[in-house]
Amino acid sequence: MTDSSRAPEPTPIDPAVEAALVASREARAAALLEFARIPSISTEPAHAADMVAAADWIVAKLQGLGATEVEAFRTDLHPIVYGKIHEAPGAPTVLLYCHFDVQPADPIELWETAPFEPFLRDGRFVGRGVADDKGQLVMHLSALEAMRAVGKAPAVNLTFVFEGEEEFGSESLFNWIPANRERLDADIAIISDTTYFEGNVPAITVALRGIMYAQIDVVLSPVDLHSGQYGGSVENPANALARIITALKGPDGRVRIPGFYDDVVALTEDDRAQIASLPFDDEAFREETAVPALVGETGWTILESRTARPTLDVNGIWGGFQGDGAKTIIPAHAHAKVSTRLVADQNPGKIFAALRDYVAQVAPPGVTVTTTYIHGGEASLTPTDHPATQAVARAIRAVEGVDPVFIREGGSIPVTAAFDHVLGLPVVLAGFPQPNCNAHAPNEWLDEGNFERGTRIIVRLWDELASLPRNADS
Ligand code: BES
Ligand code: MN
Ligand code: MN
Repeated sequence: MTDSSRAPEPTPIDPAVEAALVASREARAAALLEFARIPSISTEPAHAADMVAAADWIVAKLQGLGATEVEAFRTDLHPIVYGKIHEAPGAPTVLLYCHFDVQPADPIELWETAPFEPFLRDGRFVGRGVADDKGQLVMHLSALEAMRAVGKAPAVNLTFVFEGEEEFGSESLFNWIPANRERLDADIAIISDTTYFEGNVPAITVALRGIMYAQIDVVLSPVDLHSGQYGGSVENPANALARIITALKGPDGRVRIPGFYDDVVALTEDDRAQIASLPFDDEAFREETAVPALVGETGWTILESRTARPTLDVNGIWGGFQGDGAKTIIPAHAHAKVSTRLVADQNPGKIFAALRDYVAQVAPPGVTVTTTYIHGGEASLTPTDHPATQAVARAIRAVEGVDPVFIREGGSIPVTAAFDHVLGLPVVLAGFPQPNCNAHAPNEWLDEGNFERGTRIIVRLWDELASLPRNADS
């Protein structure tokens, strides 16, 4: 619970490290700006070389920190950066994860300045990736740099895994993890890729939704047809797609795919009370989002609907004539990208099969309809009473002066469930940007205050985690 009467500890971190952070403030900001200049867009093949450049940038930083076994592992797609600072014999090992790929910058015209010419102005970093997730990666690297500057090593053993495909479904990392178990031997995982709560309230994310992303293609003919000559005698793929999409979700917000809710773990009364107790104001959220009205799932609050309930959305839809004026055709084909956001224990593979079968069932005759899987990942849930969660909470409280709130987040980080299920590691999600940071949108920003405090929380965190019970043998 938030106790706003608390003040930050006067010296939450070692005063020598604090002095080093004060001295390096400009250099740390410059490092983030330099890193964010690299357009490491994982989903666009044209940026493959930028993905390698971003990986190499991190490799050089890790080497500068005296990390060992530093390597950018090649994969079928983008590199995975690995390294270790194991200088605390007998202490727990922490697997630290951030991602260095970013989302595409379009629509470019809505950026006030170029997305890959980031800047710091009026206390804000602005540019693609400054919040999601390069800023957080730099917070970690520069926290360690400040410790090194005063001859201090982290009190835990750190193993770094920095990913280049998070925004693209993490397939390479899913393959890499089971093949590199011994490299990943640890006691817990920390992921810095989430945010504070609405209003810049310090938060620990304890649940993420999973995802299943697919494409629906509806094909009529090899080429467009004259809509006067053919209209009325053939099925129109755009009309057909509209009918399919309408069948997927009702106006009550419930997904109509048979079996969709079968594996959903019900929220308890306690869960619902905890969510209701968060300082969330529907109207403030609506206004900030600039939408005419919020529309949740019938029977659930807005906050529950966007974080704790599964849902389905069309992410893009196209086909036929898009130009100015009019052109009279029956389009040859029409398409939609559809994502579902999943909760525990829904399985992405099972949800895909259910979607595919249902689409085939509701598709009208006269067109060819295919549904293709693009990527998926499971939901994750962290116990709030785990000692690692409590250690992160203490680090946040020391620097921010308030206890963090525990929140569920509607977004997804596919690797979280793999750390948990494949490596058996408890995962704590500790992220520092504000939630309205325009992640994935134009003018992505990061408050410099959050960057500075987050860096100090990280310094403190390694001390707090040193007393954690251990399982790894390192
Ligand atoms: N950092 C986000 C996840 C996130 C979003 C955390 C909002 C907290 C608040 C992550 O980079 C992300 O965008 N994930 C994708 C995953 C997908 C591409 C597989 C997402 O949620 O859309
Ligand atoms: Mn992210
Ligand atoms: Mn993202």
